[in-house]
Amino acid sequence: MRLFLFVGGVMIKKWEEIYKKSIERFPERKEKFQTTSGIEIKPFYTPEDIKDLDYDNQLGYPGLYPFTRGVQPTMYRSRFWTMRQYAGFATAEESNKRYHYLLQQGTMGLSVAFDLPTQIGYDSDDPMAEGEVGRVGVAIDSLEDMEILFNGIPLDKVSTSMTINATAAILLAFYIAVGEKQGVSSTKLSGTIQNDILKEYIARGTYIFPPKESMRIITDIFAFCKDHVPKWNTISISGYHIREAGSTAVQEVAFTLADGMEYVKAAIEAGLNVDDFAGRLSFFFNGHNNFLEEIAKFRAARRLWAKIMKERFGAKNPRSCMLRFHTQTAGSTLTAQQPENNIVRVAIQALAAVLGGTQSLHTNSFDEALALPTEKSVRIALRTQQIIAHESGVADTIDPLAGSYLIETWTNEIERKAEEYINKIEELGGMIRAIEMGYVQKEIQNSAYEYQLMIEKGEQIVVGVNKYQIEEEPPQDILKIDPVVEENQKRKLKALREKRDNLAVQNALKKLEEAAKSNENLMPKIIECARCYATLGEIIKSLKNVFGEYKENIVL
Ligand code: 3HC
Repeated sequence: MRLFLFVGGVMIKKWEEIYKKSIERFPERKEKFQTTSGIEIKPFYTPEDIKDLDYDNQLGYPGLYPFTRGVQPTMYRSRFWTMRQYAGFATAEESNKRYHYLLQQGTMGLSVAFDLPTQIGYDSDDPMAEGEVGRVGVAIDSLEDMEILFNGIPLDKVSTSMTINATAAILLAFYIAVGEKQGVSSTKLSGTIQNDILKEYIARGTYIFPPKESMRIITDIFAFCKDHVPKWNTISISGYHIREAGSTAVQEVAFTLADGMEYVKAAIEAGLNVDDFAGRLSFFFNGHNNFLEEIAKFRAARRLWAKIMKERFGAKNPRSCMLRFHTQTAGSTLTAQQPENNIVRVAIQALAAVLGGTQSLHTNSFDEALALPTEKSVRIALRTQQIIAHESGVADTIDPLAGSYLIETWTNEIERKAEEYINKIEELGGMIRAIEMGYVQKEIQNSAYEYQLMIEKGEQIVVGVNKYQIEEEPPQDILKIDPVVEENQKRKLKALREKRDNLAVQNALKKLEEAAKSNENLMPKIIECARCYATLGEIIKSLKNVFGEYKENIVL
């Protein structure tokens, strides 16, 4: 191991002596200690490592630029992060029941998981939807389903996140229309749509239209919400799925912020002033393993985004420079083997997110490597957050690990490495160009391959998987989606099409198609379609007639 030169030569000499003696009897476990981001892990850190740290400009104070220590002046001392469990399955009726259960158990915000047909623009009775209706999320075909989904939930009292990207404009329109039915003006609605199409091209795959048309819809949403839904977070720029695809922590920060820069550029090109929309951009990161690196990752991302917004985009409003984010603990680290072990993994990952200053948090359920969560497993996941909030003490002071020689060193290191990536992507011509070239996907694939190799070689232990295995039966108490869901959805759709005013639907769809051919903001026309119960599939079909569909170029 390369010995490190620390401050105070005399002491270092003493340490080297005892170090040499000690490793004779207990050699170090590894040849080299480093994080998956390639950050070297020293035996220990000293003031020497942060001797150049400029407190006022690099750390500062919570609620003040560059927000390294948190976006709010009082953080969790005034308000805990939003405990926001991602949930949704089967029909709107089933999911509505789960939302009421979660609200009774203390969840503070809703987070809707949609099934794949809803995410990629097919109605439940479309042949393409066969076998997927209600499976990985709730099936939403029209405003009728959305009204059921939020039955008994006052939309002016709750904030709702919707994990929806290519069809985000339509689900937002459905939500606005439900608000109208409840007598809640769109100016009172709060929540978030993920609406982050770039990471769909990179890592998740639920895209529909080509990048240019997708970006137009996204900037139409920014412009529309600025005037009509001012409390709505118009995008959740996601690193979660990039990390789940196998990226390192540094790549997660770099590619997510690079995506963010692309959206900012597109909105400015669409004629918006940066301070008119930037305060409603939000982010979504992964709460992964390597506890210390994760805490440093969140702090580095906050500081880097603040710098980018101020220095590259000239943002004047401090709110435009705030990186407000949601965290989900890492689904990819959950194991099917000894599933109860996942409760511990999730607790550690959630603690890192809290120490990293997250605004909203989803904790995975221990059985999610096997199926969608049961009521019991999701309750344990939520209780994990409540124990961290009420019993661990870490929420009572702000950014408690600040000043740690290691945390500040790694925060600097992650920021520096992420900025290098961002500069490289800018040289390639920006994120859309880098994605089209396959550069980003390749970087992630390489990291994923390296990590998997480490597991195969036993260099990276996964408890219960490649060490400490046991003979075990798969758990019986897991959530099963009844295939009858698909039939029920089809029946509901048929009845809807018979009872609605089909002339009004055709006219609304026709006007939407006309608007798509112009540069008119699409949101008002999509809301009109929602109000007359046009289905999601019908609306997408009208847009496809004008925009066509994206064909991915396979990266080898
Ligand atoms: N002092 C003063 N004000 C405070 C405060 C404090 N300490 N703490 C909070 N507040 C204020 C905030 O400023 C905000 O008011 P504003 O809207 O007027 O600014 C209000 O209280 C609510 O606070 P937050 O905005 O911090 O919390 P929210 O929970 O409402 O929003 C968010 C958090 C990250 C900004 C938002 O975008 C959000 O909720 N995101 C969630 C995204 C999500 O759930 N995604 C799930 C994806 S699942 C997925 O994709 C994975 C799957 O594919 C597997």
